Amino acid sequence: MSTVDIESVLKEKRVFKPSLEFSKSARIKSMKEYKTLYQQAAKNPEKFWGGLAKELDWFTPWKKVLQWKEPFAKWFVGGKINASYNCLDRHLNTWRKNKAAIIWEGEPGDSRTLTYQDLHREVCKFSNVLKSLGIKKGDRVAIYMPMIPELAIAMLGCARIGATHSIIFGGFSSEALKDRILDAEAKLVVTADGGFRKGAIVPLKENVDQALKSTPCVEKVIVCQRTKSPVQMVAGRDLHWTELMAKASDVCPAEKLDSEHPLFILYTSGTTGKPKGVVHSTGGYLLGAYITSKWVFDLKDEDTYWCTADIGWVTGHSYIVYGPLANGATSVMFEGAPTYPQPDRLWEIIDKYKVNIFYTAPTAIRSLIKSGDEWPLKHDLSSLRLLGTVGEPINPEAWIWYHTVIGKKRCPIVDTWWQTETGAILITPLPGAIPAKPGSATLPFPGIIADVVDKEGKPVKPDQGGYLVIKKPWPSMMRTIYKDPERFKKQYWTQYQGMYFTGDGARKDKDGYFWVMGRVDDVINVAGHRLGTMEIESALVSHPGVAEASVVGRPDDLKGTAIVAFVTLKTKTSRSDELKNELRQHVVKEIGALARPDEIRFTENLPKTRSGKIMRRLLRDIAAHHQTIGDTSTLEDISILAKLREDEE
Ligand code: PRX
Repeated sequence: MSTVDIESVLKEKRVFKPSLEFSKSARIKSMKEYKTLYQQAAKNPEKFWGGLAKELDWFTPWKKVLQWKEPFAKWFVGGKINASYNCLDRHLNTWRKNKAAIIWEGEPGDSRTLTYQDLHREVCKFSNVLKSLGIKKGDRVAIYMPMIPELAIAMLGCARIGATHSIIFGGFSSEALKDRILDAEAKLVVTADGGFRKGAIVPLKENVDQALKSTPCVEKVIVCQRTKSPVQMVAGRDLHWTELMAKASDVCPAEKLDSEHPLFILYTSGTTGKPKGVVHSTGGYLLGAYITSKWVFDLKDEDTYWCTADIGWVTGHSYIVYGPLANGATSVMFEGAPTYPQPDRLWEIIDKYKVNIFYTAPTAIRSLIKSGDEWPLKHDLSSLRLLGTVGEPINPEAWIWYHTVIGKKRCPIVDTWWQTETGAILITPLPGAIPAKPGSATLPFPGIIADVVDKEGKPVKPDQGGYLVIKKPWPSMMRTIYKDPERFKKQYWTQYQGMYFTGDGARKDKDGYFWVMGRVDDVINVAGHRLGTMEIESALVSHPGVAEASVVGRPDDLKGTAIVAFVTLKTKTSRSDELKNELRQHVVKEIGALARPDEIRFTENLPKTRSGKIMRRLLRDIAAHHQTIGDTSTLEDISILAKLREDEE
């Protein structure tokens, strides 16, 4: 976040209370009720979480709620549970049997509805397919698919037999896919012929073929047909989804899994070049996704709920699949982009399915504001009763637009702060209880002890900036980094003793409201997607013409952050616009289009400290065209700054 944004957020004084009508029928109805819950949870967290966990279906009850050996937690120790069972089977003996579980809309406008019964049948069949291919409890399955119902079926099919899924966002390149498959040592890849994206076809199967040239761990590939584009099927390795499913039985009892059994691995960017495999458990994760869906989205049986995220990110895991389905809700799933074929696609879908609860990202909101109010005004949005945002701080102007033009000043907005690592929402308004302030994620969910601390780990005064930390374990916390518990410890638990370090900067106001300012480490948030600057740097230096590269974020009205790369070339390489384009393409190939630099600046040298560390702070200022540059006393060669500025002209 730029200083300008922080200033504007600091000046933000408006408070929006939920209407009496909303509060009256909300799950949590008042600030008093929230405070009571918060205090009860703070006083006896194990009793609080244990009480809520009883709302899930357990095969065997747990013996102990929490076993905490910092930083390793075990929740609901001894309990046996299955996430797929909780999302499906437990609804089948109720009236929800024929309720829509997933309403799916494809990019070209095709649609499908799967009831809980339908979804259960497909999932059971897919579990049997997995078993027939030799996939067992504990094996890893990589999923690289478009946003089609088969993606949810594949996830729940894995969960049912205890195979750990690792979903790789369809926008990642074959290189990124390969790295993730190798790290997870996946035995099987589930993919599709392709996916639709803004009228074009994403060649998913081709990317898989490319990646699999160097992944000896993969034995089989299941290919689902979506675009009907021709693909090469490797004999003995590649199998058609429909053929396998046609032969599979629809009877497959859910495996009784240990509460701590790893449900999934999801890779996310960190401060090094290597993405982290965030490991989530079954029981604790499911409880987090379930209870936050219920209280934050105020989910009721009659709601049609829509989260626009891609399931390739954690938001889709927790708030399209596991959370809503564990609640027996109707979850809308959309394959396409918000602006295709026109900028009213989202509003059209809300109107078509009479969506009641809508959850999206500030970057989407900002781009839709830019398209003009005529687009939402063309549609009947009166079904909406609650709105949500996630992924980055929302600027108050965008918040007000969302509130006025989309919510017609009727709908509360929940600005939900959380991370891949936290599994579920941690700081958020409870919409019937907590008044919103535009730009603030407001207060911690009951059971979450959050604070803002200084470099020494001491709480800072109200309105002072500091580091956002969580002071007590919570059920949906990540358990470790896959195969790297040391990195897990170092990354999150060594900055301050007894506290989880989020990597975010924040302040707390005098009402205790949290205002998250953005990352304080070398991670940037581009259009709601998290990227490590080091990852992009390693991609750049893998190009034969590049000697050194440093990547920083620059505030951007639309994407939140734009990517600026400072690149020094090898002596024999000459600067050119063609080379800039080539480097951009190179990053796309190495990581994916989401990491494409917005700006590449060639420079002779990079500003370094005497110990050789690149001073990104200075590069950030230069990238943002800031005139004032802070302390430069540790800079080895001050003349570099002038040169960098000259290059700007
Ligand atoms: O910087 C915070 C920002 O997104 C980061 C987490 O990114 P990721 O793991 O990809 O998960 C995104 C979806 C949960 C956080 O460290 N962030 C997320 N939500 C908010 C936010 N920043 C401000 N306000 C939010 N509501």
